[in-house]
Amino acid sequence: MEVEEMGTFKQLKGKLVEPGFIPDGVTDPLYFLNEQTKSRTPLTPILIMLQAVAAVLSGFAVVALLLYMKCPYILQDLMHARKMLQTKNQLARFQKKRPYFTLLDRFLELAQTQPAKPFVVFEGEVFTYGDGDLRSNQVARALRRHAGLREGDTVALLLGNQPGLVWLSLGLQKLGCAAAMLHYGSRSTAWLRCLVRSRATVLVVDAGVRAAVEEVMPTLLQQGVLMMTVPLIQQESEQPVSPQLRAQVNASSPAAYFYTSGTTGLPKASLSTEARAWMIAHSLSTAGVRPQDVVYIPLPLYHASGFQIGLGGAIERGITVVLKRKFSASQFWHDCRKYNVTVILYIGEILRYLCNTPKGADDRLHGVRMAVGNGLRADVWRVFLQRFGKVDIKEFYGASDGNVGLFNYPGRIGAIGKVNFYHKRTAPYVLVQFDAEREELVRDSRGLCVQVPTGETGLLVSEITTSAPFWGYLNDLEQTEKKKVRDVVKKGDVYLNSGDLMKIDKDGFIFFQDRVGDTFRWKGENVATTEVADIFTMLDSVVDANVYGVQLPGHEGRAGMATLMLKDGETLDCTETFVHISNYLPSFAWPLFIRIQNDLELTGTFKQVKYKLVKEGFDPHTVQDPLFVLDPRRRMYTPLTLDMYESICLGELVMIVKVLYLEEDVQRRTLDSGVGPELRGHRLVGGLLDLLTETLYPLRGTVITEDEHTDALLEQGGHHLLHRRPQI
Ligand SMILES: *[C@@H]1O[C@H](CO)[C@@H](O)[C@H](O)[C@H]1NC(C)=O
Ligand SMILES: *[C@@H]1O[C@H](CO)[C@@H](O)[C@H](O)[C@H]1NC(C)=O
Repeated sequence: MEVEEMGTFKQLKGKLVEPGFIPDGVTDPLYFLNEQTKSRTPLTPILIMLQAVAAVLSGFAVVALLLYMKCPYILQDLMHARKMLQTKNQLARFQKKRPYFTLLDRFLELAQTQPAKPFVVFEGEVFTYGDGDLRSNQVARALRRHAGLREGDTVALLLGNQPGLVWLSLGLQKLGCAAAMLHYGSRSTAWLRCLVRSRATVLVVDAGVRAAVEEVMPTLLQQGVLMMTVPLIQQESEQPVSPQLRAQVNASSPAAYFYTSGTTGLPKASLSTEARAWMIAHSLSTAGVRPQDVVYIPLPLYHASGFQIGLGGAIERGITVVLKRKFSASQFWHDCRKYNVTVILYIGEILRYLCNTPKGADDRLHGVRMAVGNGLRADVWRVFLQRFGKVDIKEFYGASDGNVGLFNYPGRIGAIGKVNFYHKRTAPYVLVQFDAEREELVRDSRGLCVQVPTGETGLLVSEITTSAPFWGYLNDLEQTEKKKVRDVVKKGDVYLNSGDLMKIDKDGFIFFQDRVGDTFRWKGENVATTEVADIFTMLDSVVDANVYGVQLPGHEGRAGMATLMLKDGETLDCTETFVHISNYLPSFAWPLFIRIQNDLELTGTFKQVKYKLVKEGFDPHTVQDPLFVLDPRRRMYTPLTLDMYESICLGELVMIVKVLYLEEDVQRRTLDSGVGPELRGHRLVGGLLDLLTETLYPLRGTVITEDEHTDALLEQGGHHLLHRRPQI
């Protein structure tokens, strides 16, 4: 054992415990016995010894059996602990290297050792590790030449999934710069705020959002931000840039910023350091992904799961990724077959979309052996396995502004994690009592938090330590402090509030229950309620707004709902409200329901009122106030009738949507949803189907089209969208 690994007690203990039970460890004594048998020792002692060994072994077996009965997951726990320990040791070695060994260094290593291996496959085009190296050299040179970038600078990126984004991020690393990953497709006001916060000096965009950028050009100029379209790299030399340009990069240097609404307030940048990037990049190997696997990434790269787990993990493993511009349910399995995909990255919504597509004879005809992701609900999980065959689902839990990651390595359906003795030592976390009505932590007489017993729901809080650090939000001390909880287990400790309610069962499986606080999740995104409320109150007719998430049968997360108080004598302008909301907010943040109250209950605390509103939801049987539902096709809100309500609860038709699908209409939708104009013309029908599925997804609408379009839809397998012929 190396001295450096014996530094802390924890590591030493881990090492000693580890070989005790795993097969490697158990084979030792057997081997020893064989050695003895072969030797020329007298017979009797051998017999005695054999008996003794047999006794020991059977005793061992009994102990093992008892242990197994008491902890059926002991082997998997130990294997997982071993993996974590290996990762930890590896990262410690990287940290000792001078200069620090970064993910980029790993990439450069691969570009040397396997230059011809495909790295990124995109829309049929294959880019090898060697290609990636040359192109990122060009990018680095172009950025240096045109933007004068220097080590430590931050560059904001506003690009959809495309290989150019990969070369940009590698090129930035080659210059020792950090990337601020703006949400492609969100409204310019939203990302502008993020951009300003990030203190980025340069913004790189792709042609698809040029128009949106022009809108905010004056502000950019005022801030001194240089805007560039994807750099023209052809003229640049492919020669490597000097490593001197990134000589100062160490474990705590910023690698990337990701934006999140987090659990509080407006979008904030959370920092990923080089060390954290390394840690997250190990997710794929921890899940059991092998170098020969091919990983499919349909998730946006501006999210940490796509970028750091997918792309970072690919570099850590040296594997091939198939990058998708945007998730498409109708192309998903086709892509998997075409590119021999063996591992897919998901969020729960994606697997649900796949389960919602019409059944096909070739549903099980694919080579996908594993799915890695988060947010998969038990019902979808089961249906997915039944329908698409044996896929090893590796569900994890983590947040870009969190300091703890959970992983359901045994694959228990519906769980997001498994308690692991080793993990709990390195990243201590507990579930504590939370008063949902008051929206605050329950404290005991000493002022400490109260841990919940097994099987009961509590708020996940995780201790902030040097091995589980919380870097806070960039330039936002107030929000950073708001995430912290003090005096949890003992006086003076500091924990991070995850904002998520969980439950741990007797076997140690962790189940997600709900999210609390100022955000809710919808379509895999965090929606900040205060941000949405602020947008509503900009309307002249609105006095006050209270925004929250309500449960919608058959859907992950919560659907947005806003309760509005209008000025005396005003009524809701259904069209203007929609136009306003859609101008300022990305589509996932548009509230599906609006409730009008004459006076928002002002007695009691604001939070208590919210709790009551959430409980009442959008049921017109109990809510006497006017209720409205979003009609995305007609681009307006529309009164919610009893019939519509029933249909929503059945997960069926909500409203009849008149759709006259003309090509230009599709373009408008794609632009609105931020896909960019690239769908134009090509694969129109496939794209149209996805668009319909997605637009109507939250509301499961029925489509009425002109006959010619109906035929086109049917031809393309759009039966599921036409399952009811409505009468008009
Ligand atoms: C990393 O570099 C920064 C600035 O270059 C320095 O302040 C910091 O102490 C260094 N951290 C480590 C862990 O060496
Ligand atoms: C997929 O695998 C098949 C069979 O091994 C092979 O013939 C084909 O070339 C592979 N396709 C790709 C894109 O790698």
